[in-house]
Amino acid sequence: MTSILDKFSGNRIEVNEPAPRHLDPSDTGEATPASYSMEVKEVHKTFGSFKVLQGLNLNFQDNAITTVLGPSGTGKSVLIKHLVGLLEPDAGEVAIFGQDLWSMTEQERYDVRKKMGVLFQDGALFGSMNLFDNTAFPLRKHTDKHEDEIQDIVTRRLTEVGLERSWHKYPNEVSGGMRKRAGFARAMVMEPRIVFFDEPDSGLDPVRTSLLNDVILEMHAEHGGTYLLVTHDIRTARKVSDYVGLIWKGKTVHYGPAEEAFEHDDPFVRQFLSGESAGPLGMD
Ligand SMILES: Nc1ncnc2c1ncn2[C@@H]1O[C@H](COP(=O)(O)OP(=O)(O)O)[C@@H](O)[C@H]1O
Ligand SMILES: [Mg+2]
Repeated sequence: MTSILDKFSGNRIEVNEPAPRHLDPSDTGEATPASYSMEVKEVHKTFGSFKVLQGLNLNFQDNAITTVLGPSGTGKSVLIKHLVGLLEPDAGEVAIFGQDLWSMTEQERYDVRKKMGVLFQDGALFGSMNLFDNTAFPLRKHTDKHEDEIQDIVTRRLTEVGLERSWHKYPNEVSGGMRKRAGFARAMVMEPRIVFFDEPDSGLDPVRTSLLNDVILEMHAEHGGTYLLVTHDIRTARKVSDYVGLIWKGKTVHYGPAEEAFEHDDPFVRQFLSGESAGPLGMD
């Protein structure tokens, strides 16, 4: 029997082979069923009396970059927490490579999580460690790799995010954009098959956002993997996405290839993309 971790490693693509970009939607037709890394099926989640997710359905195409857009407070971070197994749905299912996260043992869930990388909203770096040690942290904590190998991996990841000359700096000595890129380098050191970005653009000016988006695209082209970005910034979604989902009031109101999303005449999508206050999304 193949375990879920075999599936993770089985999906690894060669480093020199560019990941497919802007996949042809016909590839996911009935003859060759779509290959999803993650599936959210009819997920409900209520905190107190507040229903955050109300039968949410979303599938994440393997090796693609999917952006989930939604206004603040719609449950984007809650969605990520479900996908990494930190929150359990009240009803519905979250499957990673076809396996229900909550039918697994705690150990299996932990092993799955080790193959996921998360770039948190604020970078979540340790203030007491320089960027090198922050990036090396998961390798030192979760592997028994030798320091030479750790140095090699960390140097490569920091170079990929453009921080090779800033490795000795502390988080409070660098810009918000550099902190995010260091957080991204750290999220990549365990060779994750799935990477989550929680509002990577928050708190960044347009130039730094653009630089981070370039780094996300380059990292994906180099290493492949399934990326999920959640954001309310349409520019980021336009730049990086293969697929776009739009969630509103705990449900998916649009999901499809990026090109379609930005030409869509669905009033929800049009209002969200144009940022107009008037329309079906309302203000409540
Ligand atoms: N652990 C929790 N306990 C209670 N309420 C929560 C919890 N996590 C999130 N919420 C609420 O769920 C809603 C969605 O939160 P969140 O996913 O953080 O939104 P966003 O789309 O801005 O990321 C918010 O109203 C938030 O206050
Ligand atoms: Mg959030």
